[in-house]
Amino acid sequence: MRGFWLLTAVGLAAAEDGLNGWLRYARLPCDVAKHARVPSTIVALNTTETSPVYTAGQELQKGIKGILGRRLNITRDATESSLLIIGTLDDFNTAGVDTEIPELVEDGFWLSVKGDAVEIVGQNERGALYGAFQYLSMLAQANFTEVAYASNPSASIRWVNQWDNMDGTIERGYAGLSIFFNNYTIVSNMTRVSQYARLLASIRVNAIVINNVNANPTILSETNIEGLARVADAMRPWGVRIGISLNFAAPQTFGGLSTFDPLDESVIAWWSGITDKLYARVPDLAGFLVKANSEGQPGPLTYNRTLADGANLFGREAKRHGGIVMFRAFVYDHLTLDENNWKDDRANAAVDYFRDLDGQFEDNVVVQIKYGPIDFQAREPPSPLFAHLPNTASAIELQVTQEYLGQQCHLVYLPPLWRTILNFDLRVGGKRSVIGTDILTGRRFNKTLAGYAAVVNVGLNATWLGTHLSMSNLYAYGRLAWEPTADSAEILDDWTRLTFGLDARVRETIARMSLISWEAYENYTGNLGVQTLTDITGPHYGPNPQSMDNNPWGQWTRADANGIGMDRTVWNGTGFAGQYPAEVAAAFESIDTTPDDLLLWFHHVPYTHVLKSGNTVIQHFYDAHYNGAETVAAFPRQWESLRGLVDQQRFEEMLFRLTYQAGHAIVWRDSINQFYANISGITDAHGRVNHHPWRVEAEHMQLDGYRVTEVTPFEVASGLHIVQTVDNSTAARVSTAPLTFPAGTYDVAVAYYDLYEGRAQYELFHNDKSLGAWEGNNEERLGFTLTRGIDGHSATRITFPGIEIVEGDVLRVETTPQGRETAPLDYIAVLPAGVVD
Ligand code: GCU
Repeated sequence: MRGFWLLTAVGLAAAEDGLNGWLRYARLPCDVAKHARVPSTIVALNTTETSPVYTAGQELQKGIKGILGRRLNITRDATESSLLIIGTLDDFNTAGVDTEIPELVEDGFWLSVKGDAVEIVGQNERGALYGAFQYLSMLAQANFTEVAYASNPSASIRWVNQWDNMDGTIERGYAGLSIFFNNYTIVSNMTRVSQYARLLASIRVNAIVINNVNANPTILSETNIEGLARVADAMRPWGVRIGISLNFAAPQTFGGLSTFDPLDESVIAWWSGITDKLYARVPDLAGFLVKANSEGQPGPLTYNRTLADGANLFGREAKRHGGIVMFRAFVYDHLTLDENNWKDDRANAAVDYFRDLDGQFEDNVVVQIKYGPIDFQAREPPSPLFAHLPNTASAIELQVTQEYLGQQCHLVYLPPLWRTILNFDLRVGGKRSVIGTDILTGRRFNKTLAGYAAVVNVGLNATWLGTHLSMSNLYAYGRLAWEPTADSAEILDDWTRLTFGLDARVRETIARMSLISWEAYENYTGNLGVQTLTDITGPHYGPNPQSMDNNPWGQWTRADANGIGMDRTVWNGTGFAGQYPAEVAAAFESIDTTPDDLLLWFHHVPYTHVLKSGNTVIQHFYDAHYNGAETVAAFPRQWESLRGLVDQQRFEEMLFRLTYQAGHAIVWRDSINQFYANISGITDAHGRVNHHPWRVEAEHMQLDGYRVTEVTPFEVASGLHIVQTVDNSTAARVSTAPLTFPAGTYDVAVAYYDLYEGRAQYELFHNDKSLGAWEGNNEERLGFTLTRGIDGHSATRITFPGIEIVEGDVLRVETTPQGRETAPLDYIAVLPAGVVD
């Protein structure tokens, strides 16, 4: 008996590593499950094993077994009773099964649940599979109501992009190596590939581009085309088509031609040959994704051809086979932007490049536009380009991978951010032009090709994205692409029920944290539309506000001693505000009508400028950073309250991340505040910035084997200094002077730096008692390379709660450096209850 229980426990733990995402099909409690009326037999009207209808039959059988513990038979006989019948509309007609349903558009479905009779009709096979997932989602959430409705997508394009490199790494990926590539070829084991397709199908994503937009042309080799065919085969049963990113210079760099001029006959012939080869092996290839003339990538401008010339080359080739081309609007020149020129502005680039090309693209070319004019920042206004392509197909590009939003080490639920874009009314021609419901549906300009792409970057990590709670963003992406007005909180609640079960406390806690998480993140990073304020020339993770200026990347803040912000007005600035349709342009042109949260995006103002909130800009910075850090300081406690309600593995993994986030938010808070206090010379009205009464700075401790140094950027060190061991191998220690804090119970936090390539050892002592030992191994625990430097990416904290301290006690950290880690220490904080510092 003991053996049996052990096995069961191990089995459960293994099942909860996150691999199944929201498709766990966890068994409902008996008293809930007993209310379910489900059919006894499944009739899948297509028995070809590669058909999504067949897949749907299998998935329904598996799901119902998991959720309710009932095993349904699958037959072809549609005459019995208590049936779940699934197929396309054509299948239903051929099988002679009568059904009257409203009109379905491509990929749409009809779901009818009446007693123990269920009917799922897809407009196509994919639609039928979506209907099956919808029914399973209802059952898994213990929703046993009778329904009869049609569901149609808002847009035909619902793609994801992976930025996987062919060597197996992933650009801006935070969850391990690629599931697609290894050592410049496509992996042989397709298990993870088809598991990913299953997740994507369940959120109604219909295509995936599997390689990085910064494309390696060797994806076009014979061997890799064979590999692509295997990927397509693995994904096809799930109704997910594949596409690839192309490198514009491939005819030259890979094909051996002397040119890649898109109008050159030999170049056109070369691409024709490649396209034919690709479609011969992958007949349903969804198409191509192209990044051209951007950030050093080759493109048609090299030959004085237009971007439309470049896009159409691929458009015509793909069209011969029924494919489409997603051509990215993310085109700008990072070498020539000059901050000394007040009128220069990277944000202008997309409209400048594409406005005059409207109507010149092939009808299967879709311009893929990042949601904001710059680059996935914590907040941006919508790209004005959405208003300028009435005669060209277009799609929005979102980012599920949290490149500028905490890289999955910070909990940031993204739909509230996406909603600021999707809900925005651009008022094109003075008429309602809401991005989600009017532009991306194609309705406003009468287009059939429109929609969504999201950069996702799942990796081999069992959690797909590196951490469990980030998966709500992937789930929500699919839901919003289908229905852009869907409510962020409701989507999250569905996801939570599917991912963690029905417990009200679990749902409320995850909602409470997630729904406030983007606001909190924006608060402790970059406020008022100034962008994320991260290290834009490095990993885009920790704080580094000065990296934004004085370089040609164009993510400028123009912060100096007097003021901050980009003047993007027409009357005095870069003119960007004038790229919006008249009503919106007028609103952004004036400080009075620009919302506070985008003030610094559009205007350059003194730090003392008074916001609509009544606060000055600088005081808003300080307050927001304190608020944001305080909000997430509560996350670990909130999550802790779920101990026992969430399985052990996912509970512990999230507790670690949320605790890490709470510490890193303080790093952010202090760095940004210290930086702007320094540059503006204006002190915090509440006396908090650069004043930390509960900290003992390492540089003021007694040092043994340590030396005092500065760091870059300066503001990521409390008190502007840190200590590092004198060499890379000798054990060392720091000790506080006898503490003068009043006797009481404190949380003791140690601020240190955890670098890639090194595992320094640390142990904290309270007088002679060890409070605990740890090592600098965040690169393993967070799962990716943060930095090799002592900076805002590596700055981190560990907290020991509930320590009884009396006056005269001494705290000591004993360390052993290792590798690049010179056991760098910043401070020890001795925090009374309720103090976040
Ligand atoms: C960002 C990102 C790059 C990426 C680029 C793109 O700049 O940091 O890694 O290649 O966007 O979207 O093309």
